Amino acid sequence: MEELLKQIEAYKQEITAFTAQNADEVEAFRIKYLGTKGIVKNVMGEMKNVPGENRKEFGLILNAFKVFAEERFEALKESLTATDTTTTSNIDWSLPGDPISAGTRHPLSVVRNQMVAIFKRLGFAVAEGPEIEDDWHNFTALNLPENHPARDMQDTFYVNQNPDYLLRTHTSSVQARIMEKQKPPIRIICPGRVYRNETISARAHCFFHQVEGLYVDENVSFADLKQTLYFFVQEMFGKDAKIRFRPSYFPFTEPSAEMDISCTVCGGTGCSLCKHTGWVEILGCGMVHPKMLDNFGIDSNEYTGFAFGMGIERICQLKFRVNDLRLYSQNDVRFLRQFTGAV
Ligand code: DAH
Repeated sequence: MEELLKQIEAYKQEITAFTAQNADEVEAFRIKYLGTKGIVKNVMGEMKNVPGENRKEFGLILNAFKVFAEERFEALKESLTATDTTTTSNIDWSLPGDPISAGTRHPLSVVRNQMVAIFKRLGFAVAEGPEIEDDWHNFTALNLPENHPARDMQDTFYVNQNPDYLLRTHTSSVQARIMEKQKPPIRIICPGRVYRNETISARAHCFFHQVEGLYVDENVSFADLKQTLYFFVQEMFGKDAKIRFRPSYFPFTEPSAEMDISCTVCGGTGCSLCKHTGWVEILGCGMVHPKMLDNFGIDSNEYTGFAFGMGIERICQLKFRVNDLRLYSQNDVRFLRQFTGAV
């Protein structure tokens, strides 16, 4: 009796471990366990040797064993139809595949990456600075002492707990941080986010992005500035793009200028984007103020430099014709999906 029970347990383990890769192997299982000369039949045949008083109990055990083997057989059959790769008849090869929705790069990142790549070819390295800045690096070191009227040009967010700290209003603050710790030659660009206390509309936002450029060395001239920016514009907008400079004022450059490019929409003939002038302003620039250099212990008799700063949103507007600044931060996938494929 004991022997038979042990034997049944051993068979059950064998049955559980049995796997089948194809229909032939499932059939082999059936023959081995459930066939007319199979193991289940054999075990059932032992019934006649069981003493009368144990028959009922054994009958139940043997029957359970039979059901166990049959269920395993059904399971093996089923697993085969689920994974059978040898039969292709029930697969519809013409069904469309599941779409893979690949992410897209944000248009501002696309343009920033292009800008960085262009300036890198001219030898500019990428520099970074903090977005929470102190008054010195954002204003005073840039020749904008307290009460300077030009401070009002940039409505500033101050930190409540300590008004010596503010959200940087321009990436020019990185110029100060670089000159503080680096000696010429300096050739950097700094892409980054800046903040201004503006009412949000299609044309203004409380945060936006700039790329700052700074080049300080011996004999750097306005001609170098002009050629650098001309190269940038031609790489960015194509060989037909033209540039022009207008005199301007920034406390940290002398002389200062603003630069326009020929309108990328109408090519210069006049349209609503360029307000029918044929030109659009893209940046401020100039020769680094000697006082700035001296502020950082760089001898202004020995070294000169140029600097420029431009908004990434503006470049993006001219490249992709985006006409509402709010689109950049609304995360509307219908907007963002249009830049698929751009790097
Ligand atoms: N910081 C200026 C702004 O935010 C832009 C600028 C003008 C940067 C002239 C410069 C510069 O480096 O030389 O409006």
